[in-house]
Amino acid sequence: MRAVVFGASGLLGRSVMRAFDDMTVTGTGYSRTGGGLVAVDATSSNGIARLLGQCRPDVVVNCVGERRPAVWAGSPDRARAGNVDAARLIAEGTRRCGARLVQISSDYVFDGTTPPYRPGSLPNPLNAYGRWKLLAEHAVRAACPDASVLRLPVLYGPVRFAAETNLTEIARQVAAGAPVELDDVCIRYPTHVDDAAEVCRRIAGALLRGHYPGAVAHWSAEQGLTKYGMAVLIARRFGLSAGHVSAGNADAASGDRPLDCRLDCRDLPEALRPARRRSFDIEFPLVVEPWLAPVGRIKNQRRKPS
Ligand SMILES: NC(=O)c1ccc[n+]([C@@H]2O[C@H](COP(=O)([O-])OP(=O)(O)OC[C@H]3O[C@@H](n4cnc5c(N)ncnc54)[C@H](OP(=O)(O)O)[C@@H]3O)[C@@H](O)[C@H]2O)c1
Repeated sequence: MRAVVFGASGLLGRSVMRAFDDMTVTGTGYSRTGGGLVAVDATSSNGIARLLGQCRPDVVVNCVGERRPAVWAGSPDRARAGNVDAARLIAEGTRRCGARLVQISSDYVFDGTTPPYRPGSLPNPLNAYGRWKLLAEHAVRAACPDASVLRLPVLYGPVRFAAETNLTEIARQVAAGAPVELDDVCIRYPTHVDDAAEVCRRIAGALLRGHYPGAVAHWSAEQGLTKYGMAVLIARRFGLSAGHVSAGNADAASGDRPLDCRLDCRDLPEALRPARRRSFDIEFPLVVEPWLAPVGRIKNQRRKPS
């Protein structure tokens, strides 16, 4: 079996590449193309068609997206293209080459007022990113009706730079010791990227075997935390002071961040779930520890795991 992963240089795409290692898999990047990735601009139908023509995949996974709020605000056209146009063009290319498609989407398609959300719940995005992800879903279903859409909440996992995830950025803020206010109202469900990638792999396998109809699927960890709550957990686990971190409500007060988008996963068949659902409490220390600088202070202050 052959797979193409668009957006393989990103946080989720790297993990999806690992999850598909039992297939002949080709990954694409855009600005980051080391490690054997192929450079493809996903807003160019020619580039997509060329790659799909060369690889002739059985399945395509679209992990391309622009999820950085600074880019939504500063370059909205670019952000929209990376989220919506890329999804449409990849779906059109996938249909033309006769492959199956898994499109990655987000819990931000919901407004966060009436959790939990099932795949059939009514979307009502509050901000541009959520609207783009919803437009992408519609464009994908129109171009490729048997595609599967996988909605995910905020992800964490092995990162290449601290700002790559909320969790590692918060860890840096805890360790840095400078006063910082973090939202303590909006609930997030940080989900390990390898669990998300495993669900993606299982959906792809079921699509290929004809065991799963093109459908919207939800996957999420169960533990809900605010950003402030994450900071307190990190500080406690590593014996650091959180005295410089104060609880605020900036995300909630902005009006464009959902309060609680808990994704209800009950509709996802058992066979498509990860073999074991990673626990945030167990996994987060492994992920944040490398980003808790300065290292000397951490060594001196670290407590035994409780
Ligand atoms: N991370 C999360 O917390 C989270 C939560 C829910 C849903 N999602 C969704 O999951 C998907 C993957 O997110 P991620 O966290 O892995 O994002 P990421 O780390 O920012 O990676 C984004 C990927 O998209 C590629 N890309 C961006 N613009 C492109 C373009 N014009 N042409 C080709 N490739 C382009 C990037 O390539 P280069 O880096 O090489 O330029 C990178 O491979 C996105 O759809 C995102 O909306 C993410």
